[in-house]
Amino acid sequence: MRDRTTPLLTEAQIQTRVRELGAQLAADYAGKDLVMVGLLNGVYPFFADLTRATALEFEVSFMQVSSYGGGTESTGEVHILKDLDASIQGRHALVVEDIVDTGLTLFKVRNLLLDREPASLKICTLLDKPSRRRVEVPVDYIGFTIEDHFVVGYGLDYNGKLRNLPYVGVYHP
Ligand code: IMP
Ligand code: MG
Repeated sequence: MRDRTTPLLTEAQIQTRVRELGAQLAADYAGKDLVMVGLLNGVYPFFADLTRATALEFEVSFMQVSSYGGGTESTGEVHILKDLDASIQGRHALVVEDIVDTGLTLFKVRNLLLDREPASLKICTLLDKPSRRRVEVPVDYIGFTIEDHFVVGYGLDYNGKLRNLPYVGVYHP
């Protein structure tokens, strides 16, 4: 599977950045009642590494949404496949995502979670592709800003596969 990718971010680069983000979160959320919200499926390696790099006590909870509409781009019509098992009301919620592309998914997820009246709601993404943005969504923590490439690995998939690559690579069909 490696022959279909050109490495963009190495395992070492990712792990260094994850440790930096973890330290920043530990400082920013010290003493706060935090719920780390992971968006499945793509976030699983990043979430596992980031949560272990954040030396704080917090609750983790997962949510899975799907954007329908066909094609390769999300439509913004977000359906909840799995909801959080934790309440975020009056608590600090940090949504963790693999990549922000058009922004439509996080825009909807953010509004949905804001309705539950968290004390604060922030967003952390491993990758940001700002050139593709279609709606404004505030992203508070960004691992890496990348150009408009279709990337796979470290959680990111092509047709559900290649998530288990330990690095992030540009996909060549
Ligand atoms: P958005 O609603 O367009 O921001 O959609 C973000 C979602 O699209 C991510 O959670 C990914 O599942 C998917 N996505 C966007 N860009 C890529 C990519 O380059 N590789 C793999 N998945 C991507
Ligand atoms: Mg995803």
